[in-house]
Amino acid sequence: MTQWSTLSELHAKTRDRRITDLFDADPNRAEDFSAGTENMRLDYSKTNIDADTRAALLALARASDLVGMRDAMFSGAPINDTETRAVLHTALRNLDGGPVMVDGTDVMPGVLATLERMRAYAEEVRASTITDVVNIGIGGSDLGPAMAAQALSPYHDGPRVHFVSNVDGADIADTLALLDAKTTLVIVASKTFTTIETMTNARTARAWMRDHGGDPATQFAALSTAEDKTADFGIDAARVFGFEDWVGGRYSVWGPIGLSLMIAIGPRAFHAFLRGGQAMDTHFRHAEGAENLPLMLALVGIWHNQICGHATRAVLPYDERLGQLPAYLQQLEMESNGKGTRRDGSHSPRDTGPVVWGAAGTNGQHAFYQLIHQGTRVIPCEFLVAAEGHEPELAHHHRLLVANCLAQSKALMQGRDLDAARTIAASKGFEGAELERQAAHRVFPGNRPSTTLIYPKLDPFTLGQIIALYEHRVFVEGVILGINSFDQWGVELGKELATSLQPVVDGEEESTDAQDPSTAALVAYLHAHRA
Ligand code: F6P
Repeated sequence: MTQWSTLSELHAKTRDRRITDLFDADPNRAEDFSAGTENMRLDYSKTNIDADTRAALLALARASDLVGMRDAMFSGAPINDTETRAVLHTALRNLDGGPVMVDGTDVMPGVLATLERMRAYAEEVRASTITDVVNIGIGGSDLGPAMAAQALSPYHDGPRVHFVSNVDGADIADTLALLDAKTTLVIVASKTFTTIETMTNARTARAWMRDHGGDPATQFAALSTAEDKTADFGIDAARVFGFEDWVGGRYSVWGPIGLSLMIAIGPRAFHAFLRGGQAMDTHFRHAEGAENLPLMLALVGIWHNQICGHATRAVLPYDERLGQLPAYLQQLEMESNGKGTRRDGSHSPRDTGPVVWGAAGTNGQHAFYQLIHQGTRVIPCEFLVAAEGHEPELAHHHRLLVANCLAQSKALMQGRDLDAARTIAASKGFEGAELERQAAHRVFPGNRPSTTLIYPKLDPFTLGQIIALYEHRVFVEGVILGINSFDQWGVELGKELATSLQPVVDGEEESTDAQDPSTAALVAYLHAHRA
């Protein structure tokens, strides 16, 4: 596609220029290179993107038939074409957006009926003697509600919620040790109701509840598309909340998988969360070109990863309660776009989804920011920060937090040149060759790109907007790369091999020639060293 070559040429011409020079040349750059909704602003002016680059990126999106694919997604077409499924997590937050058709049937009555059942059940649990809710799930059946529950902890007015995901017995043992089985509700969250980690933890929780005076017959609920399997497990249909296969696991927090969140924050706040997602959907569908937040976030990503060749991106929320956002985005982005095969079956001629990582600021500053500032690799950084915190009595903490966030993106862009470093070294009393050596260590190359997403306050509506923003960003990047962002074949092989290795690890089957020598030796070590 010629747009890719245009972008590569633009990169070759501009790669050595300073971002600060772009500000000198355009006094309005901060405004010109920001996009926003009514209450949210994405500033991408601290990147090397200029008007020509942006025009070429927008042309790339147009040439990829983004609008056609976007409309196909929202209209219920089976765009997950390796599983022949529609992709309609947006229907879960389409509170008053009209019908959504799948195979000629409007799915909205079913969506709204399930939401109403969730509301009634959440109210019932909140009014009951239940003190603790344990959500057992993994991947998309854990990361979304766990991240959102932490993000919205100031809104918690229901029972405490806990999340168990890992098959490592330490996870469930440490969680259950804190709880009273008589006042605990266990929610088994699994789209397929076959995931080995979740089913193993669910059976362990059921045995614990029986042994400690609880009643699994009334204190278990299930969130799943597989209602036959929830019945086999013994969960009454009245406490089973189903959803359809057009909701992907990593996109499922908006529906039944969000039940633990709804119980914690209450149906009204959950409703506001859905409204935030719906508002971002409307923005994504109607905002033009450079005004469109998910589109611009995606194009910045394509520029940095596919054109500039930066292999990773750091997500840096200056918001302690968004501490799990990087882990959530790792699944959302890397399970969606971490693929080498394109929709048409061909191998991608370019790198696909980047490595996504990060941690909450300011903690990261005292851990890995050294590499971001002075390492040899360029790491595009994505900062997130709220104008206001939830602790008015600690407003000075929040101001310090914001100052740190802004300081980091400024430092990354400006850097510190050798002359300034020499002045600092001289002020410390160094002279001659030692001054030069000391100064070299104090140089910051700068010119390191970042974006900043700023919003008024991390409330349910805003969190809904943020999650939907990233979902659509992943969608846009997937369309431009020609990838189906909604399957996950890459998780299958490991699952299959774990199933066949389990009897070998258990000692029920001999390690055979089918094992590679490394695996066979590790199994032998295990057998020799366990009690
Ligand atoms: O890891 C693969 C995966 O299928 C994810 O896509 C999914 O979110 C997770 O496992 C959990 O699946 P389930 O909800 O079916 O238990």
